[in-house]
Amino acid sequence: MFKKKTKKIYILGIETSCDETAAAVIVADKNKIEAELSSVISSQIEIHRKYGGVIPEVAARKHVESIIPVIEEALIKANVKRQDLDAIAVTSGPGLITSLTSGIETAKTLSLAWNIPLIPINHIEGHIYANFLNNVDDIKYPSVILTVSGGHTILLKMDKRRKISILGQTRDDAAGEAFDKGAKMLGLNYPGGPEISKQAEIYKIKGEFDNEIKFPRPMINSNDLDFSFSGLKTALLYELNKDPKWKNKIPAYSYYYQQAIIDVLISKTLKAAKIHKAKSIMLTGGVSANSELKKQFIHIINDKYGGDINFISPEMLHSTDNASMIAVSGFYKYQKKKKWNYKDVIANPSDELI
Ligand code: KG4
Ligand code: ZN
Repeated sequence: MFKKKTKKIYILGIETSCDETAAAVIVADKNKIEAELSSVISSQIEIHRKYGGVIPEVAARKHVESIIPVIEEALIKANVKRQDLDAIAVTSGPGLITSLTSGIETAKTLSLAWNIPLIPINHIEGHIYANFLNNVDDIKYPSVILTVSGGHTILLKMDKRRKISILGQTRDDAAGEAFDKGAKMLGLNYPGGPEISKQAEIYKIKGEFDNEIKFPRPMINSNDLDFSFSGLKTALLYELNKDPKWKNKIPAYSYYYQQAIIDVLISKTLKAAKIHKAKSIMLTGGVSANSELKKQFIHIINDKYGGDINFISPEMLHSTDNASMIAVSGFYKYQKKKKWNYKDVIANPSDELI
């Protein structure tokens, strides 16, 4: 007996919102993503490290140089020809306007030349959908989502797929920004998150906790679900100014500074989960690469809620910026609407999630 073959859907994702030039191909059947066929990321971190942060003009020039080879590599690795592709999904914002424009203009050209739809994707939405690549069957609703990146710290509620509402967000710096700025003060490299995390681990392994360095937990007891991290970096500056020997204690400062960020993130997320009776807690965005944050989330959720709430976070490669998350998000939009006009896709540096 012959089984009728259902047509597979192939989506090319393109991401250039900040300092990673990324392209990926995913394959799906009508309702479900089947696999990530390729994910190529050309990182500019080494270039920007010299300057201690991203220089937009340099980033845009690097995107222009890398974008075509990165897309070509993603197609070759996926063993997919351009004729197989059903749609292109591209990040349209938020992000650096010049970086976004390099990805969008390339995507528009390919969409026109290959005669396939071009789907604009909000970068934060992309981060959320990173969790739908391999964990979709584990997600239970309502779900509370903590999105923590270099530019955003947002708590969201997802009632069902695509039905998202914002519960709270940072009033000033993002959690990733707190890591980056704190690292800079400690003389560590850009990006600061992985550097602080490494230093904190050194301190933890030594196991000689003296608890001498104290940081505030801004807004941890506030009645809302908002965050504030700018006071934390001021507190670090104040502590360093007081301590002439701080350079000998970088692991300790990193450990206590990181723990202050983790405490606030976990406390507010659990509060949101309790209020909204969440069945899943999802973590996403660049800061979700922090293994201590994930470990402590898992520990406290298991401890407090047993099996009632499950914890979901992307694998390391899908935590920081990548194009698979853009392709996944693109697939869900493509399912709803097949016709898209490339002319409607414009770079919006302050694109809102909702
Ligand atoms: O999502 P992402 O790659 O780019 C934005 O959309 O911003 O996030 C980048 C942010 C940076 O602030 C970086 O320091 C932080 O994620 N980050 C981390 C870790 N890896 C990246 N923060 C804490 N621990 C990490 N291991
Ligand atoms: Zn991001």
